[in-house]
Amino acid sequence: MGSQHTDIYINPQAHSWHHDANTDRRIRHFHQRLPGFTPTPLIRVDSIAKELGLKYVFVKDESHRANLPAFKILGASWATYRAVTRAVGLSTDVSFEVLADAASEKVIKIFAATDGNHGRAVARMARILRIQADVFVPSNLEQATRDLIAGEGARVIVADGDYDYAVQQARINSEVPNGILIQDTAFEGYTEIAQWIVDGYSTMMIETEEQVREATGGTADFVIAPAGVGSFAQAVVSYWKSRPYPCSVMAVEPDSAACLKNSLTKGEPITIATENTIMAGLNCGTVSSIAWPILQKGVDISVSVSDREAHEGVAQFKALGIHAGPCGTASYAALKHIAEQHSKDVQSLNPDSTVVLFCTEGERGYEMLDRKKEGLL
Ligand SMILES: Cc1ncc(COP(=O)(O)O)c(C=O)c1O
Repeated sequence: MGSQHTDIYINPQAHSWHHDANTDRRIRHFHQRLPGFTPTPLIRVDSIAKELGLKYVFVKDESHRANLPAFKILGASWATYRAVTRAVGLSTDVSFEVLADAASEKVIKIFAATDGNHGRAVARMARILRIQADVFVPSNLEQATRDLIAGEGARVIVADGDYDYAVQQARINSEVPNGILIQDTAFEGYTEIAQWIVDGYSTMMIETEEQVREATGGTADFVIAPAGVGSFAQAVVSYWKSRPYPCSVMAVEPDSAACLKNSLTKGEPITIATENTIMAGLNCGTVSSIAWPILQKGVDISVSVSDREAHEGVAQFKALGIHAGPCGTASYAALKHIAEQHSKDVQSLNPDSTVVLFCTEGERGYEMLDRKKEGLL
C-alpha cells in the first residue's frame, strides 16, 4: 500500500478515504470561556508559495493560544474540564468557579506526563480549577521547560527514562482515590480522556477552515501536521477527511523519533527508541492507540525531517515575522522537502494547491545538538 521511498511513506488510498467525524459544537463555546482565548491567526505567506510553486501557503500560527505558546491547551482544557465535571457529577456547562469548588471539596488530583507543552497546558487548567497537578517529565527534558510547568503551580516529577516511561509513571501514580490521568495519548485501558483531548483540537480545525474560506473563497487541499504520539494528527485527519471536498494530509516527525512513519511502513504500530531532538514535543516512540487506525487510513504522506531542517525553518519564519519553535516549523520543513524532492510522487501538491502548515508552537529556546559529537551519527 505504501511507497517504496525510504524517506517518505505515501498511501494513495488515503486520498479518497472519507471519515464520518462529528464535531462536538460545545467545544468551541467552551474554549471561548478560557482566559485570554481568541482565534489564532492564519497567515498567508506568498513568498513560500512562490518559491515552492503553489497557489497559496498559509501558516496557522499557534504561538499564542489562550495565553500559552502552543496549541496544547485546546485539548488539555476540554479533557480536564470533561473529566472533572464527570468526577464531581456536574454538567458540561458549569462555570469554572463552581467546578473549582466542587473539585476542591472532593480533593480531585490530576496527573499527566509530558515532553513540554501538554504538561504546561494541563498545569494551567489545573490552576484555573484550583486542582493539584503532578506532571511527569522524561529525564532529558530541558530545565527551562520543567520550570515553565512548575511556574503554573504543578509539581514536576522527573521520571528516570524517556517520554514513554514518563507516561507509565503518570498512569501508575494516578491510581489513587480521586486521581485523574489527563494524557494526550491512548493505550490499552485508557482511551476516553485521550479522545476528549483530540476532540479539543477541533476548534483549531474549524477556525482554519473558516479563515481559509475568508481569505481565498475556497478550501484547503493540503494540510501538514507535526506528529509526536499522533493525537494532533488524528484531529487533523478526522476533520479534513470528513469534509465534503478532498484534502490531503501530511504528517511530519523528527528523523530521530519517526514512530508513525516506521509504523505505517511496517503496516502495524511499533515502538521505537528515540533520541534527543530540538523538536521536543514530537519526541515520542509510540503512536496513540486510538490515533493509529485513523492515521493508517487517512494520512496521505508521512515524512520525517532533521533538526537542521526544522532549525532553518525557525530562522526563515523569523525573517517573515512568524515567531515559531522547531515543532511548528517542522511542517514547513516537510513541505519544502516534498516540494523539492518528491514533487513527481505527490500530485496533490501543484500550482493550484492551497496548503495549510499547522505551526503548533511559538518561539522558544533550544540548543542545537551536535549529533556527531554525541555519537548519534
Ligand atoms: C508543539 C507541539 N507540536 C506538535 C505536537 C504533536 O502532538 P501529538 O503528540 O499529539 O502528535 C506536540 C506534542 O506535544 C507539541 O508540543
